[in-house]
Amino acid sequence: MPRRFLMCPPEHFAVEYAINPWMDPAAGADRAVAIRQWEGLKAAYESLGHEVSLIEPIEGLPDMVFAANGALVVGGRVYGARFAFPQRAAEGPAYLRWFAERGYPTLEPEHVNEGEGDFLTMDEIVLAGTGFRTRVAAHHEAQEFLGRPVISLRLVDPRFYHLDTALFPLDGRNVAYYPGAFSEGSREVLRRLFPDAVLATADDAAVLGLNAVSDGVNVVINAEAGDLQLELKRRGYEVIPVDLSELRKAGGGPKCCTLEIRGEN
Ligand code: ARG
Repeated sequence: MPRRFLMCPPEHFAVEYAINPWMDPAAGADRAVAIRQWEGLKAAYESLGHEVSLIEPIEGLPDMVFAANGALVVGGRVYGARFAFPQRAAEGPAYLRWFAERGYPTLEPEHVNEGEGDFLTMDEIVLAGTGFRTRVAAHHEAQEFLGRPVISLRLVDPRFYHLDTALFPLDGRNVAYYPGAFSEGSREVLRRLFPDAVLATADDAAVLGLNAVSDGVNVVINAEAGDLQLELKRRGYEVIPVDLSELRKAGGGPKCCTLEIRGEN
């Protein structure tokens, strides 16, 4: 089943401020390497038959490559992002404009939320992270706008500041996650909702192995997440490892670079 993804070339990518523990402006990042790695990710999607659209990168927005944060698109409706930090604030309107210009119904959000960084869509429900970036009020706002039940999950480890750094949907019904990223109550919620989930190790979480993209058959995942790849293969998934080490210096991986455009259903 082909997917539609929106991506943003890392033409202006840099690590020049620190808004998460992965970012070290003194160490910086190599943009040329990041561009090459990002091209590899895009090529991986295309080779799987997925359609990749591009948004024009904007100078002065070094994190705009992380398209997942730009919006949440479910049923062809676009819930806009409102970033927690001023360094990324201009990205919200830029992504929303991309969709508005293409005729999508959009909602400019009232509450702080970082798009698919903190909202992950399953068949019947949307899982939503809070604790570092997205506010619970935005979970309610998204639920009202999209007409889908939104389940709030609390993140407690600053390395896993977005839900998509700690959990990814394997398909519409099951997920993989790192339990250590969640509060005790949220771990219990995850256990009840997904008794058959894939549980990732601390080591695989620490290379952003949970920041993966699955189409239900193929899983595009950071190459360094070894145990997680073995477990996914054992469960019958096709594993496509990618190297995004340079983008990880900003705290991002494959999923962060990928905004899924979910059509009407
Ligand atoms: N440097 C970016 C930030 O801290 C990384 C965003 C990663 N995106 C994601 N979907 N987790 O906002």
